Amino acid sequence: MISDAHMGTAYDHLVSEESNNFRVHTRAYSDPDVFEMEMRNIFENNWVYVAHESEIAQPGDYRTSAIGRMPVIVTRSSENQVHVLLNICRHRGASVCRDERGNSRFFRCPYHSWVYRNDGAVVGVADRDGYPEGWEEGIGGLVMAPKVETYRGMIFASFNENVPTLENHLGALKTYIDYWFDHSPVGRVRLGKPYRAYFPANWKCQIENSTDGWHARYVHESALQTIEEYGSRGRTVGWPGCTRGFPQGHGLLEAERNDVPPEVGEEFDRHLDLLRDTYGKDKAEQLYMRRHIALFPNLHLMEFKFRVIQPVAVDRTIIYEYPVELEDVPDPVNKAIFRRIAQDISVSSGSFVSGAVNTDDAEIYSRVQSGLAANKLDWLHLSRGLMREERRPDGETVGDRTDEVPQRAVWRAWSKIMGNGHGA
Ligand code: FES
Ligand SMILES: [Fe+2]
Repeated sequence: MISDAHMGTAYDHLVSEESNNFRVHTRAYSDPDVFEMEMRNIFENNWVYVAHESEIAQPGDYRTSAIGRMPVIVTRSSENQVHVLLNICRHRGASVCRDERGNSRFFRCPYHSWVYRNDGAVVGVADRDGYPEGWEEGIGGLVMAPKVETYRGMIFASFNENVPTLENHLGALKTYIDYWFDHSPVGRVRLGKPYRAYFPANWKCQIENSTDGWHARYVHESALQTIEEYGSRGRTVGWPGCTRGFPQGHGLLEAERNDVPPEVGEEFDRHLDLLRDTYGKDKAEQLYMRRHIALFPNLHLMEFKFRVIQPVAVDRTIIYEYPVELEDVPDPVNKAIFRRIAQDISVSSGSFVSGAVNTDDAEIYSRVQSGLAANKLDWLHLSRGLMREERRPDGETVGDRTDEVPQRAVWRAWSKIMGNGHGA
């Protein structure tokens, strides 16, 4: 076993890369000290997705969210500014806002009634005459994330004042993010209300899995058989496609769209026609590929849904899945998309609410976690496709659809950040 004495305070040695083997130490999934450093170095020091603009469209709108384990409120102030505020009262630390979302100019702490404006300023203290003269000077309001930026309606925040720009963080992945949002002819989406689930495993099990093009044929075998029996195409074996990795830790799983089931096929054809009219044939066909886009560390743009990862403890994670509505498409198209993600009729999108696919994955994550908790294995091996991984000058890596290219991209970035605190 690797010891902390050997590593000092950095954990980059938990990832080992040789020309013919790529390994990750099991402590990276199971050690609470590693988890503590991840929360500081990855979640509090870099960019983290916190909300989508459609959730706080009007002045006064807010929604609660999290940056790692830090509870935050994402607000749109009366001046139309987006703020990300720590949801922790300056007085004695109670969470100030308990609702998932709403509209208000003020937040009143439920414990002793301190009142904050939706830009974080403290504006009232109950029973003020019980405090010394001049006491309120310098108290400050709700702690505000110093960096907030948006891209394509996605709101990202960082508690690191010196974090590199969001542009830098997204890097070459932006091309694929643009493809994803351009499923709407005006390039915009609206998020619905999320479905939430816990699983008893490390958060990185999910980040590894969302772009894993290899596991479905095994883990989801029975779900896929059921899907086929009921008339939809569910098999993924042999589909052309690829995997991509990016130096910031992002990844991509890409495959041709040949699984549109008959019950929604007509609406999907209409959608493709609309995209051709809007963007031309070539771009429309590029857009129409199936993509799972993993934005490191906590957002996945799956097919027509957002998946958000919230780590809770080294062996506990919450997943939120938001159905997505495309702006400016005919109603039946959005309805077909929703039917598709809600009724368990495809491999990647059938995991919503009642689907069998997410539960398959969660079962596997818990098996991984309980296995690793035994502390009897040192290294895990993520070398699939290592010998054929194409490395481009800008750091992007490309491999076959079943290769562990996106997973290695996660771990290479993780290793950098956990070694010196800064991303690629
Ligand atoms: S903890 Fe918020 S007012 Fe006391
Ligand atoms: Fe899966």
